[in-house]
Amino acid sequence: MDKTSIHGMWSSRLMFILAATGSAVGLGNIWRFPYMTSDNGGGAFVLVYLGCILLVGLPILMAEILIGRHGRVSPVNTLRGLVRESGVSRGWVGIGWIGIVAGILILSFYSVVAGWTLHYTFLYVKQMFGGAPISDPGATFASLLGNPLELTFWHAAFMLMTVGVVALGVEKGLERAVRFLMPALFVLLLLLVVYGMTTGYMGQAAAFLFRPDWSVIDGNTFLRAMGQAFFTLSLGMCTMMTYGAYLPLKGISIPRVGIAVALTDTCVALLAGLAIFPVVLSFGLDPAGGGPGLIFTSLPLAFEAMPFGILYGLAFFGLLAVAAWTSSISLLEPATAFLVERFGVKRRKRAALGIAGLSWLLGLLSVLSLNLWSGVRIMDRDIMTFVEFIANDLMLPLGGLLIALFAGWALNRTILREQLSDMPEALFLVWRWLMRVVAPLLVLTVLVRAVV
Ligand code: PHE
Ligand code: NA
Repeated sequence: MDKTSIHGMWSSRLMFILAATGSAVGLGNIWRFPYMTSDNGGGAFVLVYLGCILLVGLPILMAEILIGRHGRVSPVNTLRGLVRESGVSRGWVGIGWIGIVAGILILSFYSVVAGWTLHYTFLYVKQMFGGAPISDPGATFASLLGNPLELTFWHAAFMLMTVGVVALGVEKGLERAVRFLMPALFVLLLLLVVYGMTTGYMGQAAAFLFRPDWSVIDGNTFLRAMGQAFFTLSLGMCTMMTYGAYLPLKGISIPRVGIAVALTDTCVALLAGLAIFPVVLSFGLDPAGGGPGLIFTSLPLAFEAMPFGILYGLAFFGLLAVAAWTSSISLLEPATAFLVERFGVKRRKRAALGIAGLSWLLGLLSVLSLNLWSGVRIMDRDIMTFVEFIANDLMLPLGGLLIALFAGWALNRTILREQLSDMPEALFLVWRWLMRVVAPLLVLTVLVRAVV
């Protein structure tokens, strides 16, 4: 029963946890969570978001890992196998296709934003050698967004980094990238939180993050919080399913791994909030309505002000780029693994390059929407925000909803119990009803409320 995957296997339990955390922790936590919170009213958004993580995210995370570990191949083929084994409708395989499309869409803008972090890393490297300080972060950020060539360059650089790792395969590529750098990012965030405490604005920042003002909340807030929960845990597009496929059956508890990943991811997001908002407040900026530029226009102020700030700036944006890197490889892996199963292990490089190339081209739309095409509006949004909305807020929750229903209703108890063997019966029942009813209903309500 304990087959191995043709794509390779994680060499240890720790490696899987690191890789899954590496996928989860990324721009979603440090770039997106703070500005989503800023744009959606602070504490109330955060509470709804935490509720989504607990009731919807964590149980679906477990479902994805277990489906993957049972199937051992890329999502589309795993679902094909499970459909045959359980004698249910072939329509469920659509979950895998949604995942492939969502992955390509997300990677397209993810790589553009990761490119910003590369650019900032480079700015701090230049400062180390006497380059100009970032004295007006707002202007620096605006001039980056106004420059399509520069954006395209960093977007391409980041995409190539991503292809590089995915082309090398699981053991050689993914594992090496995650071993050291994730803990370093964590430490750096902690240091920034400590800096935040010295500003005297920690109390106000915490109040903004955790004191809910329910009057600012509407159907949209729920949609964004749900979308953010899926995005941050890498759920709904079969990423965790794919990583689960490389996981040995023995010696690993899916509930425990799931909790570890969800907890780490949540802590990093909250830490990022606690690091960023004191800076925002102490420099007299408005914590509300920060938009996608929030960390780029606020943190450099702190780095200019603090001792060894250039080093901190360099380390922060450098490590953020690495965190984005360990996430982007997990965006590219599901589609690549599918092509590899179709065209052979020898074609891994070409498969990764093909998918990434497509994503890169799509990313050019996001690049242009920041400058030359900034006037183009689709459903009231610029192109990049629109792609983000379709992928994060609609496709991921929809994918997650279907995964929950699939795990809850289509898979038989024997398969579930074999994968969740160490879960006490009572908890297993709770989990199963979360999958069958609670999570699907919550996601559906949120989707329906937002669409109508
Ligand atoms: N979870 C990643 C982040 O927070 C983004 C991601 C989404 C990665 C979906 C893989 C799949 O940055
Ligand atoms: Na995340």
